[in-house]
Amino acid sequence: MDQISKTNAPVLENFWMPFTANRQFKATPRLLAAAEGMYYTDVDGHQVLDGTAGLWCCNAGHGRKKIAHAVERQLATLDYAPTFQMGHPIAFDFASKLAANAPGGPEAKLDRIFFTGSGSESVDTALKIAIAYQRAIGQGTRTRIIGREKGYHGVGFGGISVGGLVNNRRVFPQIPADHMRHTLDIERNAFSKGLPAHGVELADDLERLVQLHGAETIAAVIVEPMSGSAGVVLPAKGYLEKLRATADKHGILLIFDEVITGFGRLGTPFAADYFGVVPDLITTAKGITNGSIPMGAVFASRKVYDGLMVGPDNAIELFHGYTYSGHPVACAAGLATLEIYEEEGLLTRAADLAEYWQEALHSLKGLPHVVDIRNLGLVGAVELASRDGAPGTRAYDIFVDCFNKGLLIRVTGDIIALSPPLIIEKSQIDTIVSILGDALKRAA
Ligand SMILES: Cc1ncc(COP(=O)(O)O)c(C=O)c1O
Repeated sequence: MDQISKTNAPVLENFWMPFTANRQFKATPRLLAAAEGMYYTDVDGHQVLDGTAGLWCCNAGHGRKKIAHAVERQLATLDYAPTFQMGHPIAFDFASKLAANAPGGPEAKLDRIFFTGSGSESVDTALKIAIAYQRAIGQGTRTRIIGREKGYHGVGFGGISVGGLVNNRRVFPQIPADHMRHTLDIERNAFSKGLPAHGVELADDLERLVQLHGAETIAAVIVEPMSGSAGVVLPAKGYLEKLRATADKHGILLIFDEVITGFGRLGTPFAADYFGVVPDLITTAKGITNGSIPMGAVFASRKVYDGLMVGPDNAIELFHGYTYSGHPVACAAGLATLEIYEEEGLLTRAADLAEYWQEALHSLKGLPHVVDIRNLGLVGAVELASRDGAPGTRAYDIFVDCFNKGLLIRVTGDIIALSPPLIIEKSQIDTIVSILGDALKRAA
């Protein structure tokens, strides 16, 4: 595949692209025009295998007619209606369906659903719910949130404050937060298959931060059960269990940011199911509508919800919400998405493929500059040694090479991240590994 032909490229100067080197991109654009199943088609008609489910969101693959029809029907029936002091049935229906899939078992199900428009909004919503809950139960001094280095929780002011990626933080002011250490330890865990063996003690950081700040100042701790955006960082075995125990001991709410892991990525509906650890709040987005219509949702435990349902009946319990909370068209897309997940067994399909995926990825061990390979469910990362004085350029070159050979991967620094749609076939896993392997060899 050659560079995008100039005749097929639109005027590029007006769209200020997010998280993109605008000048570099506009000089050599990569433009996708259509998508079906596992493949994108670029503006020149070349096929590109989707190794990243878009941006970790198109779990059921692309061009799903059921979603398109549901959206079309909903737009023609009720295009928009507010959810402030008003309601429409489809938002309640979708919340009920999501609740039925929520983690927590009958006793502690996270079945109270607050709708948002994105992952970033879900995160800031969850942080605000946590602080408001603590105040409602008489713990009003608990306003600090604990996050983690390398965490990615979107780009709202709350999310960047608890996040741990320096480029997202250094320019902007933040809310009161502190951070545990991250759990990436290549020295001890390189080329681990699945969860790494070393690093459970890093969960003790929560106890240390309690000792530093005082439990009475901490509302919640938020982590991605598996962080994707920082380049696939896994917790050691037992880490999340320990975090749960420490949070419980000190009256701190535990928030799992499942914007990536929600809806089947690890082979269970949620990462909470995978790890058998039930948080108090879960943030979601992306796969909730298969990426088709922007939407997110916060799943709250009944304890948290009931804690806020106090005061006179005519008082608004939480002064928070979005114009698009429970947007009817997004709810229609979400309901159709859940049906597809159910009909095709996609919320657990990654479990069937995980072993094959793991062995395929680890076959890249030994190729030039590869210093680590990590995997869990249908997620993988290949970490490369950086070029001297030019971090990120090696992986970027491989990203461009793979795209030109018909494969979409994602890079963060010198880490290549993979998260294909959950409909992927084994032969397509082989194609991913083959194109990526050749690109790694060429980059030697
Ligand atoms: C764990 C996590 N939280 C939050 C977000 C932000 O989601 P959005 O880009 O929809 O705001 C992301 C996006 O990748 C994410 O991975």
